[in-house]
Amino acid sequence: MKRVRARAPGRVNLIGEHTDYNDGFVLPVSIALQVLVDGVERDDRVLVLRSAKIEGERRFNLDALEPGPRGDWSDYVRGIAYDLQRADIQLRGAELDVSGDLPIGSGLSSSAAFEIGCAMSLLALASTGMDPLELARTAQRSDNAHTGARCGIMDQLACTSGRRANALLLDTRSLAIEHVPLPREAAIVACNTMVRHENAAGAYNERRAECERAAELLARRFRHAASLREATSAELEDARSALGDVLYGRARHVVSENARVLEYVAALTMGDLEVAGALMLASHASLRDDFDVSCAELDLMVELAMGCDGVYGARMTGGGFGGCAIALVARDHAEAFHRRIARDYHAATGVVPEIYPIESADGAEVRLL
Ligand code: GLA
Repeated sequence: MKRVRARAPGRVNLIGEHTDYNDGFVLPVSIALQVLVDGVERDDRVLVLRSAKIEGERRFNLDALEPGPRGDWSDYVRGIAYDLQRADIQLRGAELDVSGDLPIGSGLSSSAAFEIGCAMSLLALASTGMDPLELARTAQRSDNAHTGARCGIMDQLACTSGRRANALLLDTRSLAIEHVPLPREAAIVACNTMVRHENAAGAYNERRAECERAAELLARRFRHAASLREATSAELEDARSALGDVLYGRARHVVSENARVLEYVAALTMGDLEVAGALMLASHASLRDDFDVSCAELDLMVELAMGCDGVYGARMTGGGFGGCAIALVARDHAEAFHRRIARDYHAATGVVPEIYPIESADGAEVRLL
């Protein structure tokens, strides 16, 4: 019996939020919190899926997979298995056991890690593989088609292509990647508000549709490609009344956030953590005020983080509406920060937050056992 184990990391995003479906820049870090997928081949055409964190198994016949969202956690795997087979990859029946320490639904990209870990196991059991970029693109397309979330490509690409000790600067228009060394003297700490937004996918898709409407209006007026990546601040000001308050805010977030990503990379390269921290705070304010994807608990976490010693900056990370904030903390203050933020958040909300000191990790891999 052929056996494989895939390891797929989660990610934090340092800066560049809600820019990836606008052809913009993102700067995620693939992290040591991960999903593990143990795969064993079967001698029939059945795919069995089990998760250590979710009760009950799911079974699919590989010859009768149906496309489209069903609203079940298994959509990610059914969807990508369907797409891999449509791409003429002959998958084999398999048992997939999913485990790991990446918290689910906390904005650390558990969905992409789950999907990519399962896809890599299935590919390895079929004695084949896929280039990391191609796998990320396939997984993103698959998410859009079969889970109902019209996500961008950041999470999937961070999962397949991240590198330990580096952040990954991705231009989502060209898909060009640059690895940017992380500062040694600062730690990244993720602080889980423990809030899960009930309709995060609905609100996410709504933001994406708003960005598309804004981009179309701007493109018609200024005759460029219909993407907010092409828009400038001057154009936004010019079109402000035509856009209206909501679309203007959405577009302003994207245009300003793209600029912040590049400034952040420059700051990391210069070792200027004060500037990097200020950019994180500006990003958070823009996500809160212009893009409207924060929530009271994320705002509170950022505020409490900024009250702790040795913190350069903090912001929500991921899609928002709950989940984690991250803080950039001087390494010699990281331990004290951990204790203090946990205590302060608990005191303010009555909720015990989970705090994760972040270690970077390499992108996903699979091996034969
Ligand atoms: C989610 C999506 C990503 C990205 C972020 C927001 O994590 O999966 O594609 O859009 O939200 O930056």
